[in-house]
Amino acid sequence: MNRGFRGYIMVDQVTIQKQVVVQEQKLKDFCNKVWMKLGVPPQDAKITTDVLVLADLRGIESHGVARLPRYYADLKNGWTTPTNQSKIVKETKATAMIDGGQSLGQVVGHKGMQLAMKKAKETAVGIVSVRNSHHYGIAGYYSLMALEHDLIGVSMTNAAPLVVPTFGRNAVLGTNPISLTAPAGKERAFVLDMATSVVPRGKLEVYDRQGKKMPPGWAVDKTGRGTEDAHTVLDALSNRLGGGILPLGGEGEEHSGHKGYGLALMVDVLSGVLSGAATGLGVDVNKEKPNVGHFFMALDPAAFRPLDEFKRDMDRLARELKDSPKAEGQSRIYVHGEKSYARMEKFRKEGIPLGPKVVEAMKQVGTEIGVPWLG
Ligand SMILES: NC(=O)c1ccc[n+]([C@@H]2O[C@H](COP(=O)([O-])OP(=O)(O)OC[C@H]3O[C@@H](n4cnc5c(N)ncnc54)[C@H](O)[C@@H]3O)[C@@H](O)[C@H]2O)c1
Repeated sequence: MNRGFRGYIMVDQVTIQKQVVVQEQKLKDFCNKVWMKLGVPPQDAKITTDVLVLADLRGIESHGVARLPRYYADLKNGWTTPTNQSKIVKETKATAMIDGGQSLGQVVGHKGMQLAMKKAKETAVGIVSVRNSHHYGIAGYYSLMALEHDLIGVSMTNAAPLVVPTFGRNAVLGTNPISLTAPAGKERAFVLDMATSVVPRGKLEVYDRQGKKMPPGWAVDKTGRGTEDAHTVLDALSNRLGGGILPLGGEGEEHSGHKGYGLALMVDVLSGVLSGAATGLGVDVNKEKPNVGHFFMALDPAAFRPLDEFKRDMDRLARELKDSPKAEGQSRIYVHGEKSYARMEKFRKEGIPLGPKVVEAMKQVGTEIGVPWLG
């Protein structure tokens, strides 16, 4: 046993014992009931729930049902409209511009990707730009939709300013994720789904909830120096006191922090500037009008070459990577998405493990709104 960060007792067994394992459907039923109590129509409740639970199934606990209380509060406070108010405001054969009407980000995102896929099937490519939306959860949910139709899928979103630009000490950009999926044949599809920061905010929240010290190189304090104290960073970010999460590549130029910074900015150009949504310091800052922007693209590989050839070469490339020599001490090389597919199979069979604080927060929401936890 060791007494760690902020006096918490760090015993893995205790943490494990306190985890609650919940079956996927039970968890979905609870979430659906919460949304519907708040006036969300059943089909939109299902989409919102599916995005959250898919994150947990894929092992992205930072973006799973742990976020339900936040979306719940936004709906309760009237900051998110429970019914889908989004509208297509401009359209060409291959592109569309959607105003999200401050509806649930997941519902708007689903609509955006559906439209991009429809256009890709008709013209080879579909690009949809979205403004006036909300936090949409994991970027990968939307790009994964494209795989069901043998399309390449791209999904990006800007997000509240949490990331410090290279040589800066205040957060200006979001953790702005990028996801790209590509279908394969016998191998698993390529599913890249990543924040453009070293870690997403949710990971800091996980460390804070567990009272653990963060690994070095994730964040800086208000002076711009590295820190391992997740609670202080989150607190400073909430109160705009300075400091924040580092872009992919970390501090300074030595490990290419400037490239991660560039990727985050690229996402803001495509999600924010292109759509006319908020950008940089303006994203998701006014809770009453977060004006988050998204970018979706679907691309039909069959417009370039026969689909079976594309898939065959995806398989070959994946095998080349996985069969290449392993580093000392390592037994396996993964292709992006592979570990998440394995987790999904396990959690679907055995149930989804949830931390005690997540369960406590869900129970509290349930009590407030009259939906019994797993009742
Ligand atoms: N909505 C938002 O505002 C927002 C903001 C930031 C992040 N996010 C979401 O947070 C989630 C987590 O992001 P993250 O950056 O922590 O992801 P991560 O670091 O867990 O994974 C990044 C990618 O690497 C792959 N991967 C992991 N280990 C690998 C290995 N050894 N070899 C090859 N590939 C490997 C994963 O499959 C994934 O595609 C994402 O789903 C992202 O969309 C959302």
